[in-house]
Amino acid sequence: MDSPPRDPELLDKVINLAKRRGFVFPSAEIYGGFRSTYDYGPLGVNMLRNVREAWWRSMVQRRDDVVGLDAAILGPPAVWAASGHLDTFTDPLVDCRQCKERWRADKIDGVCPNCGSTQFTEPRAFNLMFKTQAGPVEGEGATAYLRPETAQGMFTNFLNVLTATRRRPPFGIAQIGKSFRNEITPQNFVFRTREFEQMEMEFFVAPGDAETWYRYWIEERFNWFVDLGIPAESLRRHEHAAADLSHYSRGTTDIEFEFPWGFDELEGVANRGDYDLIQHSEASGVRLEYYDTASGERYVPYVIEPAVGSTRAMMAFLLAAYHEDVVEGESRTVLRLDPRLAPYQVAVLPLSKKPELDGLAREVASRLRERFVVDVDVTQSIGRRYRRQDEIGTPWCVTVDFESLQDRAVTVRDRDTTAQVRVPIDEVVAELAGRVAS
Ligand code: GAP
Repeated sequence: MDSPPRDPELLDKVINLAKRRGFVFPSAEIYGGFRSTYDYGPLGVNMLRNVREAWWRSMVQRRDDVVGLDAAILGPPAVWAASGHLDTFTDPLVDCRQCKERWRADKIDGVCPNCGSTQFTEPRAFNLMFKTQAGPVEGEGATAYLRPETAQGMFTNFLNVLTATRRRPPFGIAQIGKSFRNEITPQNFVFRTREFEQMEMEFFVAPGDAETWYRYWIEERFNWFVDLGIPAESLRRHEHAAADLSHYSRGTTDIEFEFPWGFDELEGVANRGDYDLIQHSEASGVRLEYYDTASGERYVPYVIEPAVGSTRAMMAFLLAAYHEDVVEGESRTVLRLDPRLAPYQVAVLPLSKKPELDGLAREVASRLRERFVVDVDVTQSIGRRYRRQDEIGTPWCVTVDFESLQDRAVTVRDRDTTAQVRVPIDEVVAELAGRVAS
């Protein structure tokens, strides 16, 4: 079956909804905006937490071979010299000779997106790291960098984790945290920003097992997106040609999502080989290797790394969830978000503002809050309130009406089917909990 034509306004619609309903705001907007950073509003902060939690659950909590880490954002130059970022973490920068705008040469097909000129300066390597000063003294000794990826914290702590947790390969170290890149052209909403959040895991394996684990993690990560609601046909695997690999990589496969401008990188899964541990061993003088005292076995593990932006993933989940349909002759916008990702799982809607319903609605909401994130909405007609909840992806609306005072039951409405069922108040938490995938 042919897929329906893509809505050419999808990106604008999602950006608009995200701002209007409090998912994502352009930062410093009252000062004219900053273009390269975004703020997450009351709904966005809920959803981003859910994205992180879903990742952590699948990558750490549910496994016995991965442990967590939260490393510093600010680091000394030695780390970035050893990792190769000081020398090679660059993008090709060109200036348009006509309008003087600056662009990433590999992203513009030889034509200035601003003025249409084809005349550019020669490309020069522009380092993407943010440099700053640590402490009150200026000068080279005080130079520090904001991390451009969370990964290096896992390599510099390799021995600490190995010793503290008595692990042996295969095992992984996972981390979620902010990263910073001075992107030449931040663009496409939160797809590419200068401040963003990553969810990365470094999986240390015996060199002979690296290829098997590389393939394993590509499939695991692909399936994670599908499980959380991205249709498999909106995703694809793109294996990089040898010539396109990053300085550290022996193999990289991107999981690409069909963004409104076409398929583009959502997550990268790389076989980093022994590059990082060897680089840091040589630079620090500390041997970063696995040594088994019983067998005398000693080797430098290879590393398989699935790395994704939580902010970019949230954008993909929003785009995939956005739908417009017609319910009872009325058109609506609905975010078909998986309940595990939705900013609110349940909305409690007292049918009227009359004080009789207020107490019972509060009681229902407080029971539900023990298990779910709940919104209580008392304004406007019930139909309008359903539409508002559909638009922000709330999977279930629980309506408290006058009959509820007699039968101690409520009406549960499903966002996607709009089907309604009556459920005793004592059973509503269990009923809805049973509908959430684990
Ligand atoms: N440690 C490997 C690494 O950082 P990467 O492909 O440069 O690899 C991994 O980044 C993921 O981080 C990307 O697939 C993307 O989801 C996210 N990401 C990278 N740069 C980003 C940016 N400027 N804005 C938002 N997300 C970004």
